[in-house]
Amino acid sequence: MRRIGMLTSGGDCQALNAAMRGVGKTLLKSGEQVEIYGFLNGYRGLIRSEFKMLSHSDFSGILTQGGTMLGTSRTPFKTIREPDEDGNDKVECMKHTYYKLMLDCLVILGGNGTHKTANLLREEGLNVITLPKTIDNDLWGTDMTFGFQSAVDIATECIDCIHTTASSHGRIFIVEVMGHKVGYLTLNAGMAGGADIILIPEIPYDIDKIVEKIKERERYGSTFTILAVAEGAISKERAAMSKKELKDAMKNYKYPSVSYEIADKLAKETGHEVRVTVPGHTQRGGSPCAYDRVFASRLGAEAGRLILEEKYGFMVGYKNREIVQVPLEEVAGKLKSVDPDAAIIKEAKMLGICFGD
Ligand code: F6P
Repeated sequence: MRRIGMLTSGGDCQALNAAMRGVGKTLLKSGEQVEIYGFLNGYRGLIRSEFKMLSHSDFSGILTQGGTMLGTSRTPFKTIREPDEDGNDKVECMKHTYYKLMLDCLVILGGNGTHKTANLLREEGLNVITLPKTIDNDLWGTDMTFGFQSAVDIATECIDCIHTTASSHGRIFIVEVMGHKVGYLTLNAGMAGGADIILIPEIPYDIDKIVEKIKERERYGSTFTILAVAEGAISKERAAMSKKELKDAMKNYKYPSVSYEIADKLAKETGHEVRVTVPGHTQRGGSPCAYDRVFASRLGAEAGRLILEEKYGFMVGYKNREIVQVPLEEVAGKLKSVDPDAAIIKEAKMLGICFGD
């Protein structure tokens, strides 16, 4: 008998269910005796030993469903060694649940923070396999995460809708795309949606360059401009600050987000009306796109195969168009960012897209 625990942790995204279905079907159809324990609401379920048993029927009909059938929560890694609200040692509780249920392995679906904790559990002696989820596509060790392509589609659709109204009114529009630390989502949705200006955290912007671009467009007869701005877009001045200086500078920040600050400045500098649209969590919601359904299913199947072969301690990732096994210690604690010198940035610039640099 194999006993497998499964959980989804961190912010949700599309195709979490598709990935779990991939693992579940592979294990349950293998002919081996398998019990699958689904821990509820992320690591919290593992800490508190809150789970439900998952059978064939739980993995049916979920391929197309967004969200996660197990629920999720954020359990910040930086406080993982601090006691929880009941005074319990979180790591010891997770280990206790694992050994009490006599689990052979944990399958953990998550992003960056989730992988730090997963690697810690591996170091503590638990068998762990992880799957890379996040709309940000910022996980080290994999070219792609599931959820990303679905979110790109949603953000692109938002920019498409803004295009028609922006051109009718001759306005400047800012679409704020998710991504506090990395700009993959903004870059891809911005290019797909034909944004004129794309601002990402990896390329600090100069507001004068943005104004210049808008004026240049006007000279060539364009009456509107669309900016795709990442949540974490940062000006050159702020990027040059130390952590402490930045913290002080942001103390009395009066805008809900950077997009509103940019909008304010552009309205003053250009004399045009500027509007901000924030699709927010819609980017993580709804049904996974076809790409993510296939991709997450493939990752899930491979995770199932590894478990059957008792190969643990890996994230199942994707490199150079191949499904690969990446040692967890190589993934945890590292961020994959957009390279400002990448070919895609050069190509976007050749198309006339301004990055504000
Ligand atoms: O990490 C995924 C993500 O959607 C980011 O793009 C975004 O900045 C963040 O989560 C939002 O977090 P929350 O759902 O906790 O508001």
